[in-house]
Amino acid sequence: MPDIFLNKVILITGASSGIGRATAKLFAEKGAKVAVMARTAKKLEELKKESANPNNILVIPGDVSKEADCIKCIRTIRKEWGALDVVIHNAGVTMRGIAEDTEMGVFRSLMETNYYSLVYFYKHSVKDLKLTHGNFVSVASMMGKYSTQLRAGYTASKHAMVGFMDSVRLELIPAGVHVMTVIPGFVKTEMSKNAFGADGKKRGTQDARIAAGLSPEQVAFDIYNGMKNRKREVVSSHFKEKFALFLSKWSPSLLDKLLLKIPVI
Ligand SMILES: NC(=O)c1ccc[n+]([C@@H]2O[C@H](COP(=O)([O-])OP(=O)(O)OC[C@H]3O[C@@H](n4cnc5c(N)ncnc54)[C@H](OP(=O)(O)O)[C@@H]3O)[C@@H](O)[C@H]2O)c1
Repeated sequence: MPDIFLNKVILITGASSGIGRATAKLFAEKGAKVAVMARTAKKLEELKKESANPNNILVIPGDVSKEADCIKCIRTIRKEWGALDVVIHNAGVTMRGIAEDTEMGVFRSLMETNYYSLVYFYKHSVKDLKLTHGNFVSVASMMGKYSTQLRAGYTASKHAMVGFMDSVRLELIPAGVHVMTVIPGFVKTEMSKNAFGADGKKRGTQDARIAAGLSPEQVAFDIYNGMKNRKREVVSSHFKEKFALFLSKWSPSLLDKLLLKIPVI
């Protein structure tokens, strides 16, 4: 039986690395037409070359924190492929730093890249998704469900994403558009290297927990499966983060105590 995403038009942001790249590769293997967006055009072109069917990969360089780039991205897909079935908004950036010491610009950049970008893609693609009864998916984080130290700006942006998704999910039920939030735990990607420090500079170091995280391919598979089964939310992580999520709901004070005991980086 052909895959349900065969010939579907799928936009994946942040596809030059990590989870986005693995997700783009997986959907390309399933026979989808995949538009890939990120700032680093060279890495997107490499992904296209490596793909089983390069003609089914559309490279769209751009910065998701700029509304004009998001509009241009959606218009390019309409022009090239005539429809849009799925948006997977995955591009994102994190931080490491005590809130008191962190420059205001870092808080703003995190909201612009992680949260406002989600609103831009939603506003400019929702009419297309209503026509195709498609899927609107965003990659949030466990940090959209509970918070740890050193990430105040990141966790605020991810909580904003989760709240937005929960609201539009209800709004889109009558139109038959599937809305799914992805909640990864630690995933082995470039994320901690690309994180902002308190001064706004790239950190450039890999965290041990990220290095020991799930593979991006596993998260891509969980996204694919969740979309296939039209789930409202997909939690993709090792047991430890799932247990912390459970505690955050049922015993948040105990979770606070544990977070103060373990070395959070
Ligand atoms: N890794 C984890 O442990 C983890 C855990 C929970 C959630 N997540 C979430 O998963 C998503 C993917 O992250 P990852 O772990 O795969 O990290 P990654 O390897 O650093 O990939 C991040 C991707 O986002 C793109 N990006 C960043 N800023 C952008 C901008 N302004 N415009 C366009 N693209 C931009 C990057 O491409 P360019 O630099 O080329 O633009 C890259 O393709 C993020 O939303 C992150 O918050 C990750």
